[in-house]
Formats: sequence, C-alpha cells, structure tokens
Amino acid sequence: MEYIFLVLAYVIGSIPFSYIFGKKLKNKDLRKHGSGNLGTTNAFRVLGNAIGILVLVLDITKAGILVLIIKYNPEIFGITMLHPMFYGLASVVGHIFPVWMKFKGGKGVASSFGIIIAYAPWVGLSLIPFFLFITYISKYISLASTSTALSTFIIAFILYFDGMNPYYDLEFLIVVAAASTLIFIKHKQNFIRLLNNNENKTYLFKSKKK
Ligand code: G3P
Repeated sequence: MEYIFLVLAYVIGSIPFSYIFGKKLKNKDLRKHGSGNLGTTNAFRVLGNAIGILVLVLDITKAGILVLIIKYNPEIFGITMLHPMFYGLASVVGHIFPVWMKFKGGKGVASSFGIIIAYAPWVGLSLIPFFLFITYISKYISLASTSTALSTFIIAFILYFDGMNPYYDLEFLIVVAAASTLIFIKHKQNFIRLLNNNENKTYLFKSKKK
C-alpha cells in the first residue's frame, strides 16, 4: 500500500507547472524557447520574474509536500510508510521524467531543493546563499545548480558518516546521491555550452544583459 504513495509522489512531481503557466498565461511552449528546459530557470528567463517565482514555489512545494507530511506522520492512514525521502525522490523523478510530456521534464534542481528543505531544513537553508553566491560570481545558474548538488551530496555524506545525528541517515544520503546524479546527467548540454563558452548568463540583482 505504501508503494501506491510512491506512484502518487511521482504523479504530483510530474505536474509541469512551467509548461502549464507558459501555455496558459503567455501562450508560449517553454520547450521551444530559451534553453527549452521545462524548469524554473527557463520559466524566469522566458516568462518573467512573476511567473518564475510562481513556478519556483510550486516546483519546490510539489516535491516537498509528501516528504513533509510523511516526516511528521510516518504511519499515516494506518500504513507504515517508507522513509519520507523516497517519496521525495519519486517526485523528483516525476519532475524530470513526466509521463505527460513524453518523459522530458526539468533538471530537478528546484524539486530536489524542495525535498531537502522539507526533510532537512537547515541543510536546505544553508544551500541558498551558496547557490546565490556561485550564480552571482559565475553568472551561470547551471554551474550554481550542479555545484550546489555536489555540495549537498558532500554535506549528506559528512552528516551520515559523522554519525552525531541519526536523523541524517543512510536513506537521506542515498536519495541525495541519486538526485544529485540525476541533476548532473540532466545538465549535460549545459556543460557542453559552458565548455563552448555559450551558456546562458544570469545577472542577479541587475537588469538583464546579453
Ligand atoms: O535549474 C536548471 C538550471 O541549472 C539550468 O537551466 O534552463 O539554463 O538549462 P537552463
């Protein structure tokens, strides 16, 4: 029965908010604009800040919601649930490989952040200044996303092997490792663009430049 909730987590994660808002509010298919990615960064880039923020909040929420519920109710509906992070991973997989979009979704950055902030808020909060700092100095969100994914894995690794707090368990480490790996795989085109010096730039706290 608990496995049905994994499917539910996948389905919730697979709701393509960036695509829906692009189509409904701006009549734009995000897959044909900007980087073509169905994610928060491309929503900001193509659809503007207001819709970008909306997509960011919804992508974080859709992935984190079941993690949060199961974290505080591990025996919800009289069923002993799996580790909450597994439902989070199912949502991240749904976001990256949505059945409705021929399995071509986003890169899993906002959704992975959603499951981390839901399960380990202090770890999640510590990632925000790091992400913004890398974006600010490099101008590349993709570099910030992947270096933050790598840092999250290192943090989860240290927290697990340090053993001081059993809350940061093997399941947490496994899910962070899996999500980080997916994020890296999905950034393949970004790495190619970075190497070719034609990756999209993002100027934080400044007006847009080319
Ligand atoms: O969160 C995704 C970001 O790292 C890259 O997005 O649209 O520039 O490929 P994009």
